[in-house]
Amino acid sequence: MARVLNFSAGPAVMPEVVLRQAQEEMLDWRGTGACVAELSHRGAPFMALASEVEADVRNLLAVPESHAVLFLAGGATTLQALLPLNIAKQGQRADYLVTGHWAKVAMKQAAPAADVHVVASGEAGQFRSIPPRSEWQRSPDAAYFHVTANETIHGVELPDDIDAGTSAPLIADFSSNIASRPSDLSRYAMVYAGAQKNLGPSGITLAIIRKDLLERRGQPRADILTWASHAAQGSMLNTPPTWNWYLLGLCVRWMIEQGGTAEFARRNGEKSALVYAAIDDSEGFYRNDVVTSARSRMNIPFVLHDAALDAAFLAESQAAGLIGLKGHKAIGGMRASLYNAMPVDGVRVLVDFMHDFRKRHG
Ligand SMILES: Cc1ncc(COP(=O)(O)O)c(C=O)c1O
Repeated sequence: MARVLNFSAGPAVMPEVVLRQAQEEMLDWRGTGACVAELSHRGAPFMALASEVEADVRNLLAVPESHAVLFLAGGATTLQALLPLNIAKQGQRADYLVTGHWAKVAMKQAAPAADVHVVASGEAGQFRSIPPRSEWQRSPDAAYFHVTANETIHGVELPDDIDAGTSAPLIADFSSNIASRPSDLSRYAMVYAGAQKNLGPSGITLAIIRKDLLERRGQPRADILTWASHAAQGSMLNTPPTWNWYLLGLCVRWMIEQGGTAEFARRNGEKSALVYAAIDDSEGFYRNDVVTSARSRMNIPFVLHDAALDAAFLAESQAAGLIGLKGHKAIGGMRASLYNAMPVDGVRVLVDFMHDFRKRHG
């Protein structure tokens, strides 16, 4: 069976060579005579893998020595709930820049353990732009300042690493654009990402945390909810998601071999430009209302001029081998997610389909 082109927002497309390698190694990984998923995380083969993957993550993302790298279970959402417990005092202010659905989720998860404060929100404008910096109202005493680097549903992306100033540690949700371009991680006290978009499989979450943050007392919580304890144990405080860790490692190695984040920035720029051109040059047949400066390179939501065509668009695209194009229910329409593992040629097929569909239904 031919593989489809998968434009899903996550879990998402993974590099075919990675899947083939996993298939080849499934029954006998590195001469162990066992699948990596069958082996103890404390045994030498897996311990070696864990340190290789950390080294590769540090290499790919240029992680500064000042930061620890953690591989956690629970997804980005759990991490958002643990954030105030780990680094804020009970009821302390925590600042949030609200740029879309996922920023709101992050704030909601933190709300039971912090005095969450909206620095600025794009909601009145239906999240079609990023609130200008001149309108941000930061709290002088905030435990941290949280931003969402890319809004997977609304298709809004911070154009670059932001300069948060020095007043509070900057925390960024990189779930849907990690490794999509070079990033200066020294500007962030912490970045985190569920792996199921640019880093491979669901079930594992990467957290990159400045070590001094791990020393914060935070709030009463169990050891298993404490990032400092995970860091002290090499992310093996309890049984980690070993299979996911392994697959993440293969994806990270693949990204390094492909040329790293600079090369993916180039490809992602090219891919997103192709899709935005197909939308903008369609004389209103397709529409994306995000202001140009805030348009995401990773997730491109768009609507058809007549919603009655949605079902035909989805059925015909699926029949053409293009899957995962249905938009999130929060905003409807369509969405094309163009993560690192989606090749430029795959996007050309999508764009050709969009032109062809318009010709037939326009
Ligand atoms: C930007 C962003 N943050 C957080 C999440 C939630 O991640 P998880 O499902 O891993 O908890 C998602 C999921 O799509 C996301 O896109």
